[in-house]
Amino acid sequence: MNQPDAPLWRDGDVPVSPRFDDPYYSLENGLAETRRTFHAGNDLPARFRDGFHVAELGFGTGLNLLATLALWRATGQDGRLVFTSFEAFPLAAPDMLRAQAAFPELAPLAAELAPFWQAEARRIDLPDLAFTLVEGDARQTLPVWPHRADAWFLDGFSPAKNPELWGADLMAQVAAHTAPGGSAASYTAAGHVRRALAEAGFEVTRRPGHGRKRHMTTARLP
Ligand SMILES: C[S@@+](CC[C@H](N)C(=O)[O-])C[C@H]1O[C@@H](n2cnc3c(N)ncnc32)[C@H](O)[C@@H]1O
Repeated sequence: MNQPDAPLWRDGDVPVSPRFDDPYYSLENGLAETRRTFHAGNDLPARFRDGFHVAELGFGTGLNLLATLALWRATGQDGRLVFTSFEAFPLAAPDMLRAQAAFPELAPLAAELAPFWQAEARRIDLPDLAFTLVEGDARQTLPVWPHRADAWFLDGFSPAKNPELWGADLMAQVAAHTAPGGSAASYTAAGHVRRALAEAGFEVTRRPGHGRKRHMTTARLP
């Protein structure tokens, strides 16, 4: 592995990427943003079933993974959640854990998964979770990924700061790696992202966003 990216810390516990000059999650309660944007935006937990596959662009602190596994467990799902995340610049375990510690309701799960991050695990197999971290630039790793997700969490840094994770070619790859009837959601409502998703075959909808964000994006394949 290359040297991990080291975040700066804003307001004590919000990690900010010096590489991209952007926070890893909303300064206004990252967990609430995950629930509104990625869970509600993909109609979860209603669509969960054994083997339901979430894929994510941008693993960051692991907050979305923890929040999604917590939702899976809280709603008493049978079987396994499959969760794959694409990440070019993984964080070191102590930074992930410091960021996760800001969300006390996720503490038991954070503690359960901590040994995996400390071992720099790229796969986690639990009775209710099959997690894979695909390391590398998603523009290279997604085209050769041999799976299709049921729901995508499009969670790159803002399109202005991290344009490489929002390009039309990558959005086409997201569509090509989505199961029929599958979905994608993002906190951004940037016009070029919505157009790229629509050109890739998604039906794209704008919804009210989290916190000060006026709009977010949801997308569904026919
Ligand atoms: C907003 S953060 C993701 C937050 C994360 N989902 C969480 O729960 O903490 C965006 C992530 O995208 C990653 N990233 C940026 N460019 C990338 C690329 N080209 N390929 C893969 N990952 C990339 C960054 O390193 C960063 O971890």
